Amino acid sequence: MAPIQNVALLGADGNLGPAILHALLSAKYTLTVLKRHSSTTPDTYPSPTKTLRIPDDLDHTALTTALTGQDALIVTIKGSQTEIQKELADAAQAAGVRRFIPADFGSCDSSTAEAQELVPLFKHKAQLRSYLQSLTLKHPTFTWTSLVTGHFFDWSLPFIHVNLAERKADVLDEGQHCCSMSTLARIGEATVRVLQREEVTANRMLFVQSFCVRQGVVVEAFEKATEEAWGVEKFPADEFRVREKTKAEEGDVNAVENLVYYLGVVDGDWTKKHGFAMDLLGLEDEDVNAVVKDVIKRFT
Ligand SMILES: NC(=O)c1ccc[n+]([C@@H]2O[C@H](COP(=O)([O-])OP(=O)(O)OC[C@H]3O[C@@H](n4cnc5c(N)ncnc54)[C@H](OP(=O)(O)O)[C@@H]3O)[C@@H](O)[C@H]2O)c1
Repeated sequence: MAPIQNVALLGADGNLGPAILHALLSAKYTLTVLKRHSSTTPDTYPSPTKTLRIPDDLDHTALTTALTGQDALIVTIKGSQTEIQKELADAAQAAGVRRFIPADFGSCDSSTAEAQELVPLFKHKAQLRSYLQSLTLKHPTFTWTSLVTGHFFDWSLPFIHVNLAERKADVLDEGQHCCSMSTLARIGEATVRVLQREEVTANRMLFVQSFCVRQGVVVEAFEKATEEAWGVEKFPADEFRVREKTKAEEGDVNAVENLVYYLGVVDGDWTKKHGFAMDLLGLEDEDVNAVVKDVIKRFT
């Protein structure tokens, strides 16, 4: 079979989409950005990206027509939009798309009972993977790959409890938990590698990272790069989980983010996961100190 060449991307204007778009173009894929008719973001993607509008109601026939000729569909809309993604997967299958990459890119291993119990989103992500798996059983030429990346390291420092302006960071317990995190560029690179290694990545949840280090090491990297001592607040992980869970149940959206943060720290070591895919994808860890220096430049 010819390698994947024609790739469609839905969600190019979100938090993650631009990094994936950049990686796909760098790898010379023939890229089509799909976007809703109602989308107000400008179609100013680097050449030679094509843009194709799709109906807001994701009409199956129109979507299937739009996807015909595509080898792969990558979705970077919100992970909570699972019903939309099922419709996308159905149309992709009908159009003969070979690889579907859903909006997973998770901070956490959403297959665990704890993740699903703490954050409803992860139950939905797991249900979507089951749906994709059932689709592939019925239609074996349709395949999927889900990437789990750990916390995005260079997206939102507050999300990972790093306060650059005030030189402060929080850690859980003593900062000893090793957790895998990825830069946006690494996620783009990993996505390309999935497409390049089509056979070995089919129908799998794969774990990738820029690095897997203790939270304390991240703090040290920020201290080294800023040449200042940072204030570190330590939170006992169990107490943190219980408190944030209570708040999340009362509707506190920030607490839900904190539970995602908690999970990505205490159960975020991808090197121990069955689907750890750095070797499979031919990727190597990045240097945390170098990445932190870049992040500081970007956010100052
Ligand atoms: N691991 C982490 O730390 C982390 C952090 C953030 C996100 N994520 C994951 O990364 C993935 C992408 O998230 P994101 O934050 O980048 O998403 P996002 O910013 O919310 O995505 C926005 C994009 O989705 C499009 N979109 C929204 N609703 C749509 C609809 N109904 N139909 C078609 N297109 C629609 C928007 O297009 P319009 O122009 O039409 O509005 C825009 O291009 C998700 O799976 C998320 O869970 C992980």
